[in-house]
Amino acid sequence: MRPSLLKSASDVLRRRNYSSAAGPERKVAILGAAGGIGQPLALLMKLNPLVSSLSLYDIAGTPGVAADVSHINSSALVKGFMGDDQLGEALEGSDVVIIPAGVPRKPGMTRDDLFNINAGIVKALCTAIAKHCPNALVNMISNPVNSTVPIAAEVFKKAGTYDEKKLFGVTTLDVVRARTFYAGKGGVSVNDVDVPVVGGHAGITILPLFSQATPASNSLSPEDIKALTKRTQDGGTEVVEAKAGKGSATLSMAYAGAVFADACLKGLNGVPDIVECSYVQSTVTELPFFASKVKLGKNGVEEVLGLGELSAFEKEGLEKLKGELKSSIEKGVKFAQSK
Ligand code: NAI
Repeated sequence: MRPSLLKSASDVLRRRNYSSAAGPERKVAILGAAGGIGQPLALLMKLNPLVSSLSLYDIAGTPGVAADVSHINSSALVKGFMGDDQLGEALEGSDVVIIPAGVPRKPGMTRDDLFNINAGIVKALCTAIAKHCPNALVNMISNPVNSTVPIAAEVFKKAGTYDEKKLFGVTTLDVVRARTFYAGKGGVSVNDVDVPVVGGHAGITILPLFSQATPASNSLSPEDIKALTKRTQDGGTEVVEAKAGKGSATLSMAYAGAVFADACLKGLNGVPDIVECSYVQSTVTELPFFASKVKLGKNGVEEVLGLGELSAFEKEGLEKLKGELKSSIEKGVKFAQSK
């Protein structure tokens, strides 16, 4: 980047920070902050002017990440925490807790293969959240999200702290991918594109609603829409295979996680009309958890929005995904209740 560009970028960031000085104090905690997603997510949250305190927790490596990120010129105060005995302090007073802790998918692994390791990690972290910051909004990134969100709900129910308005499965990466793929194929600017993505967050449970994409692109055939749907559903695998054994999506996921956390913070701060897709407790279908557009407000979920009108192809996709999503939800609930 040319020095003049660097200077103007840092000016913009600085100006954004000054302009937020009057906003409420907000603490964000990232659990798994030293990982592939956690590190760039820590960077992006440090740059977010709505964050006044950034708490970075991991089982290892957080002092280095925290020292590194803390030197950046933005107002968020950064602290690193490491290991079980520092988890409580890391969480205390958090408004938003983002969880990318766990193991990523390797080639040949499905999200369900991750289940046993990540389910245990999520259960332990949510037990600590219930104890130390029961009112925080929880942004669940750890996969399989279709199951880890129901696990978190069960843990919070058991602790007596469950509030369905405050638990979110982060499916923003599906929206990010759908927007990019649609814009590329449809010849429209990605900055203007919006595509709702509903259902769940694995394979066929990811259902992009290209019939509702804005701006509408007239150049796309039914075959194109089918191919775009498949590419969005397989977006994670595309990255896993390209990284060839070195993990799954980290940079695009950190971007998506930062977009979603920013929306949560804006909602908490009373900014009107904040809408993002997320996997939440839902009555939109017969399934107890489902991703759809969600309006965010001062207490988290203000309203879970309906699906709108679906094309015949999308209706078929919706019916096809229900069986898999139902069993992933049940698997999570069973895991949480069994131990
Ligand atoms: P990574 O292995 O690079 O990082 C995971 C981090 O979690 C490591 O630093 C590890 O030390 C930490 N960790 C493990 N156990 C922990 C515990 N008990 N408490 C706190 N931290 C703990 O993995 P990566 O690539 O960052 O992925 C993390 C998770 O995010 C995986 O489950 C992955 O499948 C998921 N993911 C979710 C996506 C989504 O769209 N929701 C997209 C991509 C990945």
